[in-house]
Amino acid sequence: MLEVTNVKVKYRIGGGVVEALRGVSLRVNEPLLVTVSGPSGSGKTTLLKAIAGRVNYDGSIKVMNLEVKYNMDAVRKLVLYLPVGEVLIDELTIDEIMRLASMSSNVNDAHVDDILEWLGLSRLRNRRVFELSTGERRRVELAIALAKAPRLMLIDEPTIGLDEGNARIIGEVLRSMSRQGRLILAATHDPVLMEYSDLNFKMRDGLILTR
Ligand SMILES: Nc1ncnc2c1ncn2[C@@H]1O[C@H](COP(=O)(O)OP(=O)(O)OP(=O)(O)O)[C@@H](O)[C@H]1O
Ligand SMILES: [Mg+2]
Repeated sequence: MLEVTNVKVKYRIGGGVVEALRGVSLRVNEPLLVTVSGPSGSGKTTLLKAIAGRVNYDGSIKVMNLEVKYNMDAVRKLVLYLPVGEVLIDELTIDEIMRLASMSSNVNDAHVDDILEWLGLSRLRNRRVFELSTGERRRVELAIALAKAPRLMLIDEPTIGLDEGNARIIGEVLRSMSRQGRLILAATHDPVLMEYSDLNFKMRDGLILTR
């Protein structure tokens, strides 16, 4: 499902160059919940962005056997990238947001109802986003992601800013999403979330240490 081989990413800043990824390889061929951990600046976000086709890379990244850099249109349909603190439109209700999200992917209303029910958001569907707690907002982001029905989900710090109870809810939800046949790759510093992952890759200085 995902094959990353000797991937290097450089950022140019001012006169210099930052080598954010220095030859990363990993392979996951089952729909698992996979976490990527490591110190700040070790390259986690850059790895997610490379897989999502958001930064240029050297080496090879294959999603469902498609080389990302040569198949951007196809990859965009298969892969969903959720950045840290994805900004939701505060004035919209959950219902309105879900209608927008599902329009782009032919997901029907019944399926949207199921997603909201499953994430415990049904009773909040007429609330506007600014009236939600942080944990509820993070669950709305996951609902949007699910409505887009991706095969691979790349999520940057899914539990950032959440208390342990909410982090566990997210852990359960992500694990169930993987059991439904999606590969989930989450960058995280959170030991609570790592308890739920099937596999963790540790990064340091632009490399993967262990697997
Ligand atoms: N747009 C950019 N331009 C220049 N350098 C960048 C850019 N984005 C990231 N970097 C650098 O690349 C390296 C890896 O950054 P990255 O954001 O991938 O780390 P991270 O592991 O996600 O860190 P954190 O845990 O703090 O989110 C760091 O040295 C960072 O300063
Ligand atoms: Mg990061």
